[in-house]
Amino acid sequence: VILTQDELKKIAAYKAVEFVESGMVLGLGTGSTAKHAVDRIGELLRQGKLSNIIGIPTSKKTQEQALSLGIPLSDLDNHPNIDLAIDGADEVDPHLNLVKGRGGSLLREKMVEGACKKFVCIVDESKLVKYLGGSGLAMPVEVVPFCWKFTANKLQNLFEDSGCVAKLRNDYKGEPFVTDNGNYIVDLYLKKDMGDLQVASDAILRIAGVVEHGMFLDMATTAIIAGELGITIKNK
Ligand code: A5P
Repeated sequence: VILTQDELKKIAAYKAVEFVESGMVLGLGTGSTAKHAVDRIGELLRQGKLSNIIGIPTSKKTQEQALSLGIPLSDLDNHPNIDLAIDGADEVDPHLNLVKGRGGSLLREKMVEGACKKFVCIVDESKLVKYLGGSGLAMPVEVVPFCWKFTANKLQNLFEDSGCVAKLRNDYKGEPFVTDNGNYIVDLYLKKDMGDLQVASDAILRIAGVVEHGMFLDMATTAIIAGELGITIKNK
């Protein structure tokens, strides 16, 4: 049998939920893969197989999903120490560095996942890349709306040597996409790798109009990768 991409996402998500124990404070990820994990947590709570879970959602969308499933929720202000987060990614490199934020939730994801003892990243094998940006898809940067063109130009110039093109993300109506935090997203398209990722990260964050970027460096402690031939678990 050939599994669909969504079936692979579900397999990775269900595997990750095996790490969840009663009494945990859980970071709840965002996106089509994390959605399966949140569904599964809701199901296990309903069946009484898990109890005393507190979920910390990484987006308004996940908050709504978790509420509809009856998962008790809180936030980072009240629970600054999270036991485990489960979330998807857009790209995973061989060192478990990630690109996230194609769904636009990178800022809250980075805040929540940065406060976790364990961060399990769940993906289907199509997300594996040799280097971040290597899929040819967007590397998202959340920017303040004020003079976003100025900020986008600065970002493009920063990665000129990597053939970078910076584009404002639009929603389905052709209007600027607005994040849960009221900001815009500039997507960076790269033809080559960015070189030293920590240097690239620091340089992006030094631009005044930038709020956060979608590179999650040295944050995932485990990656669960579902492929046609089965599940691979990689630990940091
Ligand atoms: C949300 O902004 C993202 O970081 C998602 O976690 C990421 O885009 C993965 O999404 P999918 O699981 O839908 O591919």
